[in-house]
Amino acid sequence: MTNGTKSMIAEIKELSDKYLLNTYNKYPVTFQYGVGEMLYDQDNKAYIDFQSGIAVTNLGHGEADIIEAIRVQTDKIMHSSNLYYSEGQAKLAQVIIENSAPGKVFICNSGTEANEAAFKLMRKHGIAKNLMKPVILALDGSFHGRSTASMSMTGNSSIREGFGDLVPDIHFITPNDEDSLISAFDNYGENVCGLIMELIIGEGGIIPMTQSFVNLARKLTEETNSLLIFDEIQTGMGRTGKMFCFEHYGFAPDAFTLAKALGSGFPIGALVVAEEYTSLLGKGAHGSTFGGNHLACAVAYETFRIILSRNLLEGIETISTNMFQRLETMKSLYPIVKEVRGKGLHIGLDLNVPSRPIVEECLKRGLVVNSTANSVIRIMPPLTISLEKAAEGMDILESVLKG
Ligand SMILES: Cc1ncc(COP(=O)(O)O)c(C=O)c1O
Repeated sequence: MTNGTKSMIAEIKELSDKYLLNTYNKYPVTFQYGVGEMLYDQDNKAYIDFQSGIAVTNLGHGEADIIEAIRVQTDKIMHSSNLYYSEGQAKLAQVIIENSAPGKVFICNSGTEANEAAFKLMRKHGIAKNLMKPVILALDGSFHGRSTASMSMTGNSSIREGFGDLVPDIHFITPNDEDSLISAFDNYGENVCGLIMELIIGEGGIIPMTQSFVNLARKLTEETNSLLIFDEIQTGMGRTGKMFCFEHYGFAPDAFTLAKALGSGFPIGALVVAEEYTSLLGKGAHGSTFGGNHLACAVAYETFRIILSRNLLEGIETISTNMFQRLETMKSLYPIVKEVRGKGLHIGLDLNVPSRPIVEECLKRGLVVNSTANSVIRIMPPLTISLEKAAEGMDILESVLKG
């Protein structure tokens, strides 16, 4: 790539600027390879990964069993289509259901698509209830994706604006505000076909929902015969210390969506529907060419196998406790730190200043973290990170916050 005069990063940046639509605000680094919790850039500089590709590479980089699963499956078959049965699909659906609650799975390729399927499920439920105008409720500050339906359910006007009319009859509730929840159900009552929410709002700044807010959401959806759907795309697959975040709240929803870490970096998404509602999406009601291809399913199945067989969830608590303690100490020492939030290894550090310059400085010093909701540093290391590397990463973050 380098021509001897220009640096590799300058050359890639120039090509990207010329040929890629300018939809992302990128940092001037190009990662070449990763090992476990470490990433290496174009100059072989090492970074501790506290971001996991935005909650995707939960098993770290270069995980040998994932690579082997990909090799074995590509040797056999990658894709045949949903016209035929697939052992990989069946086994993946089985492991998802056996680790959540009785129900069935639709497999797609991304989080957006999983939420698109959830949207269709809610609408189908509304139509089955004979609603003329089925209403969907969602949370302010939420993020559910970029397709028309999923961005219509996204509680962030900067994502929704600029595209003309979106999907109608979607209304937003203030997170953790029980009055706002009650008044939405007072206003729309039986016309509600579903409520979709993240249990910990991710892109919106790592904001955990309270138990009583979630309990109330369950009560009101039950009373109005509407679906309660949890978006577990960022929180699922062990990120919060349980396989799925809803386990912390004590009950499974009517449906939930998965993507990101489900495929350990290979694109895959899923809608998981509780037994009672599985007939809503019958033959012909939904589909995908790539969704559930042999390769994606093999990787996702292997991801489950690794998390379960290595008892990865058990190790998270100690690392999480250490990280939270370090961050609370930073909060007490540095006035720019406003709040520490999150669960497990899904952590947000809310600052009194914009977080992007802090993230840029961390990057310079060899730590990858992510800036979200303007003032939040999002910390999501691989579930496999060692205590030592977690502490080293915290040292770098502290050195930056110290100023
Ligand atoms: C909670 C949540 N839902 C949905 C999505 C969309 O997923 P994808 O980017 O795979 O379409 C994201 C992505 O960040 C997310 O965090």
